[in-house]
Amino acid sequence: MAKGLSEKFLWGGAVAAHQLEGAWNVDGKGVSVADVMTVGGVDRPREITKGVMAQKNYPNHEAIDFYHRYQSDIALFAEMGFKCFRTSIAWSRIFPNGDDLEPNEVGLKFYDDLFDECLKYNIEPIITLSHFEMPFALVEKYGGFRNRQTIDFFVKFAEVCFKRYQNKVKYWMTFNEINNQANYNEDFAPFTNSGIIYETGENREAIMYQAAHYELVASARAVKIGHQINPDFEIGCMIAMCPIYPATCHPKDILMAQRAMASRYYFADVHVHGHYPTWLLNYWARKDYQLDITEQDLAELEAGTVDYIGFSYYMSFAIAHQENQANFEYDESRALIRNEFLEASDWGWQIDPEGLRYALNWFTDMYHLPLFIVENGFGAYDTVEKDGSINDDYRIDYLKAHISEMKKAVIEDGVDLIGYTPWGCIDLVSAGTGEMDKRYGFIYVDKNNAGEGTLERSKKKSFDWYQAVIATNGEQL
Ligand code: BG6
Repeated sequence: MAKGLSEKFLWGGAVAAHQLEGAWNVDGKGVSVADVMTVGGVDRPREITKGVMAQKNYPNHEAIDFYHRYQSDIALFAEMGFKCFRTSIAWSRIFPNGDDLEPNEVGLKFYDDLFDECLKYNIEPIITLSHFEMPFALVEKYGGFRNRQTIDFFVKFAEVCFKRYQNKVKYWMTFNEINNQANYNEDFAPFTNSGIIYETGENREAIMYQAAHYELVASARAVKIGHQINPDFEIGCMIAMCPIYPATCHPKDILMAQRAMASRYYFADVHVHGHYPTWLLNYWARKDYQLDITEQDLAELEAGTVDYIGFSYYMSFAIAHQENQANFEYDESRALIRNEFLEASDWGWQIDPEGLRYALNWFTDMYHLPLFIVENGFGAYDTVEKDGSINDDYRIDYLKAHISEMKKAVIEDGVDLIGYTPWGCIDLVSAGTGEMDKRYGFIYVDKNNAGEGTLERSKKKSFDWYQAVIATNGEQL
């Protein structure tokens, strides 16, 4: 049994381009799906507008202006001792319209500089290709991933990035939280994942399965090309992991939870095994969903399986069966219930550190691949005291409890874990609500939901705490 985490363990932090870069229309960048989403709130969904409109508040346009401040921000990450830094490449900085013939050189250069800055401090860049940042023109012109052509646009983008950064980036992921679109009754996840805006009366579920299929093919083709460009690449998928527990030990609740887990995580089956699970083929047949899946697609899925599973973990869910429920059918946006054993954040996210150990073991049992926790964190309101200090003990408590369970999974259970990158290592725009005041960072950014503030950075109490965690390789929590 290992005594502690490996010396090679990748401690770091995670962000996504659209949530911190800003500079939404600078140096040739095109409008992305994130640029047409307004600010929302805990009970107020973000509005998706038809293009950028005057008088609306689009928080991602400026975000925290990382585009112009990345050098000093990375210096702070280095001061915390980061071994890696996860971010994404804003697709519309490279292909402003998505279907452009040539990439935007200024956009490519920006990421060269950003990765060089990381490497200067021996910080390994961990890169997501598509993190809720599809060029909006692909939505308008092609319907996003409703359209098979979008596979080619994504693969071209991936190939350009793989070639350009092959000597700077080793760890890649294709689509961020690809499985969130299983939640197809909300508008947010299908739009940000696949660029889909539903029309009234459409069969959302069937459309989701089709779009997800095109994305899975796009991912598999990119994985294959990436490995040809550089056989040392480690290319993973990225799954949003919220374990779904049965509400009770009633056998029907157990079966319901099993069905829900299968529905939410079949994406990982395809990424890892290279084919669809039988239950899903039967489900489509029962529903009479005639999906566009060709023999060549199936061959591509087989040929482009991933090297590791990256996943986010914030919370767990629970589910109960309903009477007379045919085949335990699952609709994520309607079926989940509150777990009475868990507390929740101010945004209703149920806090469950042990669920992380469960998730790590579940993935290992299912897929036998290395894992990477590429997001975990506590969104909370922070208070700046008169002396400027920010005492975020609640964030330290959350992270401490999760890291402690993570260590048990690695040390006691033998899970193969590459690293840990807490989400939003610097305050940034919330993806779900568009708020600045839902903060995750070790570094505070002076900006509020209305967009006011100096953008000045300051260290929170958790900054020093995380620095010590990294310095002791997780021994001192
Ligand atoms: C994940 C996303 O869903 O959770 C991130 O990959 C997101 O982009 C994070 O920011 C936290 O969610 P939120 O809604 O609090 O920003």
